[in-house]
Amino acid sequence: MPINLFEYEELAKKHLSQMAFDYYSSGAWDELTLRDNRAAFERVKLKPRVLVDVSDNRNLSTSILGQSLQSPLLVAPMAFQCLAHEEGEIATARAANKAGVGMILSTMSTKSIEEVATQGNYSDINSSSNNSSSNNSNNTPRWFQLYIHKDRDLTSNLVKRAYAAGYNALCLTVDAPVLGQRERDRRNEFTLPAGLNLANLASISDLEIPTEHGESGLLLYFAQQLDPAITWEDLAWLRSLSPLPLIVKGILRGDDARRAVEYGAKAIVVSNHGGRQLDGAIASFDALPEIIAAIDSQVPVLVDGGIRRGVDILKALALGASGVLIGRPILWGLAVGGEAGVTHVLEILRNELSVAMALCGCSRIQDIDLSLVG
Ligand code: FNR
Ligand code: LAC
Repeated sequence: MPINLFEYEELAKKHLSQMAFDYYSSGAWDELTLRDNRAAFERVKLKPRVLVDVSDNRNLSTSILGQSLQSPLLVAPMAFQCLAHEEGEIATARAANKAGVGMILSTMSTKSIEEVATQGNYSDINSSSNNSSSNNSNNTPRWFQLYIHKDRDLTSNLVKRAYAAGYNALCLTVDAPVLGQRERDRRNEFTLPAGLNLANLASISDLEIPTEHGESGLLLYFAQQLDPAITWEDLAWLRSLSPLPLIVKGILRGDDARRAVEYGAKAIVVSNHGGRQLDGAIASFDALPEIIAAIDSQVPVLVDGGIRRGVDILKALALGASGVLIGRPILWGLAVGGEAGVTHVLEILRNELSVAMALCGCSRIQDIDLSLVG
């Protein structure tokens, strides 16, 4: 049994096809940003506070946009989770429920918006009645991640379905006007194996991931179907489609963060897409201070990219993040053990965060402050 997230990756490799492992693990071009996302956390050193009574059960709970979390974690939106396990996004959603953490479903999921909501019991989570027999806190983040297709009707259909199915926010990804070039996917001619499809689109279109000699099918899909012309002005249209709060994911500059808020974003995700888009982009953790300063507490700021240890989460919170998104390690858990594997990955992170908090003299999430890193 793996005891940390790096061991999960090693084990997951044995459970995945080469094409799936490469797709999940790779970054764009030289993978500089992918590596720097990790290195950025390793560079920051802590100044722990001692002789604080941390004997009580530490309280890791928090909230974002009024939605509660049992620890400051959300599962990042990640495409094609059935490549890891037949239950795919449903298993991930159940594990997120059990752990009381957030989950963001990708537009490019292999289980549909509706299947994940019903089989992942979203109505329980979002109900106003407090069911104490369940592990789920009420109203936990269950967000739908949106890619804007050139076909606007199709795009608006996705948003309306997410709202109808009980998702409680819309997370627009803005760092992928075109797909980053991941050379391993190109070499593998990445496509979906028979039996898997774009589950959210299957009922409304005949769109598929193409197969082409010498190219990633996903890259071609993006080029053909997604709209590279979207601008800030399109946010008003998006917000008109449903009452869901809008979160903008993929911000790396203070001025863009401010603009997102001006155009109605209710939260920001500082992200370089796990090093999969612009190689050479700043590590998301390094971009955080500028964005925290620019946002000046107007909206919550989340961050993702390279978080592999509980202490990384503590560092992100110390710099002012309200929570973090966890990407690839979730897929490693899913590949190794389905729902139970994801549950274990989330437990490892929670436990490590709790120990890191104790060692820094923090009993509650609110005790984590800038003085620990500055
Ligand atoms: C992603 N990511 C992503 N982001 C998004 O907004 N929509 C998506 O469909 C996907 N798909 C996707 C697939 C895979 C296999 C990976 C690894 C990532 C990016 C993701 O949400 C997140 O930003 C990063 O994965 C975070 O970095 P770490 O934790 O993986 O280092
Ligand atoms: C990816 C896309 C789907 O990173 O966001 O593969």
